[in-house]
Amino acid sequence: MLRMSVIPCFAVKSKRNTMKYVKLSNRLRALADLIDNCAAVADIGSDHGYLPVYLAQNRRASRIVATDISAASLSAARRFAAKYNVTQSITFIVTPGLDGITATDVDTVVIAGMGGETILRILKNAPWTKSETVKLILQPQSKIDLLCRFLYDNGYEIRETKSVTDKGKSYTIIIVRGD
Ligand SMILES: C[S@@+](CC[C@H](N)C(=O)[O-])C[C@H]1O[C@@H](n2cnc3c(N)ncnc32)[C@H](O)[C@@H]1O
Repeated sequence: MLRMSVIPCFAVKSKRNTMKYVKLSNRLRALADLIDNCAAVADIGSDHGYLPVYLAQNRRASRIVATDISAASLSAARRFAAKYNVTQSITFIVTPGLDGITATDVDTVVIAGMGGETILRILKNAPWTKSETVKLILQPQSKIDLLCRFLYDNGYEIRETKSVTDKGKSYTIIIVRGD
């Protein structure tokens, strides 16, 4: 199991708090809104780290893991977290997909902004995600049909799909749990 800090969530924001808050794009905000309060979240392929930093600032999650296959991307995420003073609330891991993460670490997995085939491969390599207790929030950039076929054939249940428009572009978000 990963060594991660547990963050108090639902904290009340002080009215005198002058800290600047991250403003997410419509697409990322739609993903954030689908994360249950106090969830233990992994953001896979986090890149810039906007989503984990938003979750940390707003005390929305009890655990936050940000991963990326690219060390450079994760360094940028770390810098972004430092700018907002939330580095301590986020565990950063350079890793492909969900390697090194288990169901004891997180209960919610966000995989967004990648091709459907990449998302499919990440899930294939992490069969523990096929669980009723794990919520998957997927936002494929392409090959949505291929990803849905994989989910259907492999014991995942699509609970809901949502559309979000961001800067004139439409995105599909798929909420999934194991059967
Ligand atoms: C376009 S960015 C998306 C960033 C963010 N998730 C979003 O939705 O805005 C894609 C990121 O996924 C990372 N990535 C690509 N394949 C990956 C894999 N197999 N495992 C982890 N990260 C991956 C890339 O390095 C990149 O930082």
